Amino acid sequence: MPPVGELFKEVCQMRPTIASFPSARPRRARQSPAIRSMVRENVVTPADFIWPVFVRDGTGVEEPVPSMPGVVRRSVDLIGAAAKEAYGLGIPAICVFPYTSMDARTEDCAMAWDRDNIANRAIREIKDAVPEMAVMTDIALDPYNINGHDGFVVNGEIVNDRTVEALVKMALAQADCGADILGPSDMMDGRIGAIRSALEAEGHQRVMILSYAAKFASAFYGPFRDAVGASSALTGDKNTYQIDPANSDEALRMIERDLAEGADMVMVKPGLPYLDVCRRVKDTFGAPTFAYQVSGEFAMIRAAAENGWIDGQKVMLESLTAFKRAGCDGVLTYFAPEAAKVLLG
Ligand code: PBG
Repeated sequence: MPPVGELFKEVCQMRPTIASFPSARPRRARQSPAIRSMVRENVVTPADFIWPVFVRDGTGVEEPVPSMPGVVRRSVDLIGAAAKEAYGLGIPAICVFPYTSMDARTEDCAMAWDRDNIANRAIREIKDAVPEMAVMTDIALDPYNINGHDGFVVNGEIVNDRTVEALVKMALAQADCGADILGPSDMMDGRIGAIRSALEAEGHQRVMILSYAAKFASAFYGPFRDAVGASSALTGDKNTYQIDPANSDEALRMIERDLAEGADMVMVKPGLPYLDVCRRVKDTFGAPTFAYQVSGEFAMIRAAAENGWIDGQKVMLESLTAFKRAGCDGVLTYFAPEAAKVLLG
């Protein structure tokens, strides 16, 4: 067995771009901010962000979400101004989530495709205030479902095909209200194809689908369910439709299927704990790939920062850079306006 130094030299000969020490001193490339910026492989910009926001009824209301410090639920009348400010920071897209009270939740989920529901009013409000901004939606029945599930529940089972019919109605309502990007987050089978053909048939050829294709059954969604008022409503778990966190081959199959059914862009969710999936998705399909830095990820960073255990600003930017490094084209993040401000200096 030759000594390690000899082996290293041999490797270096095989890869002539790698010189051996002391010719190679990789620290030379890290010596100053100028040099480091020259060799930096990935950069985050505000154009990488989609900003998820929570909207509610009322007027002039801005209500903090306790489990997501710094995040608020805004009444619909305030969302246009917030969107405009975000767009001014260079954030190209916003994603609307409704906070619904218990009386908007029914077994038939009829509010989900009502053109005057909170989310659809917010879409119109944003499009009026800042028409250039891309507005994304969430398609799933949970904000309007009495039991908090993304699909209809019949005899304790989340039924697929009937749910897809409802999701199609929900999608068309959102498109009619001016949404640019629809985000099916429900994980029912066949919904992308069904939504895509309905959009075609109704003259919405321009409307995009960003499929939550690789959405895992994650405990990191906890604070979000508080934010939209779903925590108390949800009975049981979502394990019969969201993906087992242990699986990445399955996630790839879901991405492939949704692209084949007409998704324009795909998402991996949660984000940071699933960067391996992001990388596989990007390498395998090369499609526009997004990650969702979900509520629990946001809350963990915030909580540690508020305790003085980490530098919140640095960890925020480091986490966002990680998505780019993993191959993502962009990231849904509650940090969007804050991070954009830091990046713009
Ligand atoms: C609803 C939905 C969820 C999230 C986005 N859309 C929660 C869930 O599936 O229970 C989670 C977002 C977050 O945690 O930030 N279908």
